[in-house]
Amino acid sequence: MSTCRICASTYSPFMSFGKMPIANGFLTSREFAREYFFEMQVGVCAECGMFQLIDQPDPDQMFHEHYAFFSGTSVLMGKHFEKFARHVIDDYLPKEKSFVVEIGSNDGIMLKHFLSEGIRHLGIEPSANVGAVAAKLGINTVAKFFNEKLAREIVAEYGQADAFIGANVMCHIPDFNSVVAGIKTLLKPTGIAMFEDPYLGDVIENTSYDQIYDEHVFLFSLRSIRSAFGKHDLEVIDVEPQETHGGSMRWVIAHRGARPVSPRVAELEARERKLGLYEQSTYLTFKKNVEHSRDELKRILSEFKASGKRVAGYAATSKSTTILNYCGITSDLIHYICDTTPVKQGKFSPGTHIPVRPHSEFDAPYPDAAVLFAYNHAKEIFAKEEGFRTNGGKWIMFVPRVEVI
Ligand code: TYD
Repeated sequence: MSTCRICASTYSPFMSFGKMPIANGFLTSREFAREYFFEMQVGVCAECGMFQLIDQPDPDQMFHEHYAFFSGTSVLMGKHFEKFARHVIDDYLPKEKSFVVEIGSNDGIMLKHFLSEGIRHLGIEPSANVGAVAAKLGINTVAKFFNEKLAREIVAEYGQADAFIGANVMCHIPDFNSVVAGIKTLLKPTGIAMFEDPYLGDVIENTSYDQIYDEHVFLFSLRSIRSAFGKHDLEVIDVEPQETHGGSMRWVIAHRGARPVSPRVAELEARERKLGLYEQSTYLTFKKNVEHSRDELKRILSEFKASGKRVAGYAATSKSTTILNYCGITSDLIHYICDTTPVKQGKFSPGTHIPVRPHSEFDAPYPDAAVLFAYNHAKEIFAKEEGFRTNGGKWIMFVPRVEVI
């Protein structure tokens, strides 16, 4: 039995993905011998509905000075965060003297839009090397983890905030209750919290189990978010589905009773009930779907191998670590992975040790097939890699189903 990180009830895991390395732990061959693994099991608390990892590596293993994720590398994500920032500015911030706090502010991809409007802001980014990139742009950044204590310090130094924002960070934080308490302390009476993360409903619907990895301690649903924030007298006032990361949800939260609640909230609850998110049997079906997806992907890759074809991976994403390790795919099935991130190039994929090569080698020459690990950027990638298809290349997809296109 495990104890829920949100409500302290006990529950049992419904599935194990086996031993997993750190999803962003791209490494050199000298580091193979001391690579870190943990048992990746997941469960859903029957009491509050939170989908969560049972065990998680120490955060110091994951977010450190060599952390390899920089938000600023995708063009579409850049546009997405600009729109997010505009939405906050136009629809929620007072016209004057507003103050915005972003957690997991990364290289400043979102806060730079507040900076350019002269809006008072504070970025909180525990990975010092990533935060340093933002600081160079003039973004006010501190290298810390957000919690209740830090919220009190921020209020003492800057006053309360009009907006607390975060993208792909809230689901990373094991001590979620302390973050929620911090939000309660931080927000002005009319302030809002707005954050987005991969959405449990989409993961269940699309069998996108690659969203489950060490950094994603939680996958949120309306029920679990309501339960975590309700304890602090905060409520969900709006929900805004996003296409990013293969299906995310943006949650808008305010002090209870401070702002009107959008009808979209009740609509989402109806969708969740229809999807069966509140029933344990749904997760057993999900487990079966995950196993089927794994078997299909291995079957297709083995067929390419048997016919002597060269298969590459496209984009060494964090989420590819779950696919590769859970399916047991090594360099005999996927020979290399091309990626645009300089710090990953020349290294090997976590756990399965597939070489990562620069994106510039993708067409030198093109492989016969490529597994699209960054399927969430499919539109952008299909457009820029037209030459691959014209040369007879095949994309291997695995979400929402395994197929060759
Ligand atoms: P992302 O979807 O943010 O993945 P994750 O959150 O799972 O890490 O994709 C980021 C990674 O994908 C990063 O390593 C860069 C790589 N990438 C490419 O190599 N080419 C591309 O065209 C895109 C969009 C991403």
